Amino acid sequence: MRRPFIAANWKMNKTVSETQDFLSAFIPEVKEVKDVDIVIAPPFTSLAVAAEELSNTNIKLAAQNVFYEEKGAYTGEVSPLMLIDIGCKYVIVGHSERRQYFHETDEIVNRKVRAAKKAGLGVILCVGEDLEERETGKTFSVLEKGVDKGLSETDYEGIVIAYEPIWAIGTGRTATPEQAQEAHEFIRERLRLNYGKKADSICIIYGGSVTPDNIDSLMACKDLDGVLVGGASLKVESFVRIVRFNRL
Ligand code: PGA
Repeated sequence: MRRPFIAANWKMNKTVSETQDFLSAFIPEVKEVKDVDIVIAPPFTSLAVAAEELSNTNIKLAAQNVFYEEKGAYTGEVSPLMLIDIGCKYVIVGHSERRQYFHETDEIVNRKVRAAKKAGLGVILCVGEDLEERETGKTFSVLEKGVDKGLSETDYEGIVIAYEPIWAIGTGRTATPEQAQEAHEFIRERLRLNYGKKADSICIIYGGSVTPDNIDSLMACKDLDGVLVGGASLKVESFVRIVRFNRL
């Protein structure tokens, strides 16, 4: 009932012309892929050109961040309505880099989730523990807080949860399929407590050093419905291989 969900998070990479170059090579390579939700999140400055390139394709557009107000005197911020207007279907909220460098708390993340959903955007909500939290046995309490607070006062529709252990992001140190499965199963249980059976329709995806070499074994995990890919989504060849993963 859940379709694989494979998303690229380009972070602060690619100019407008680099975005065009990537997409004109990538789109034909995945146009036959009908059974996977493919999502690309370029930087804000590339959204307009990406929306144009992706129209009438099987690839959806996402933003990497959003503010929680609709409009007004918030210099430098971008509203959910602006993202809808430019053609975004999803937005990534609460990425660990935003929590770490821009001091986003679970409360701020929740305001963003609610504002994005109200505007009609799907939300990729990121949660995950850092190394110290994992080593001191706090992984599950971090996940519980991230899910419960992040989704407070909101329903399940249009929600995707990205489990992203911070120690695995950009480090080349991927969670093992067992570690990922255990976290995903915990998140699924948490969602069931909040939403009952409807929780079973929510995709829970994994992020953190996903590559063409580990995608197949990750996707074989029972509760792992897809991936959020940083570094390996910047090259056409490697992201194509990830989208066209082998079902083991
Ligand atoms: P990475 O980033 O694939 O480069 O580890 C993943 C992410 O931060 O979403």
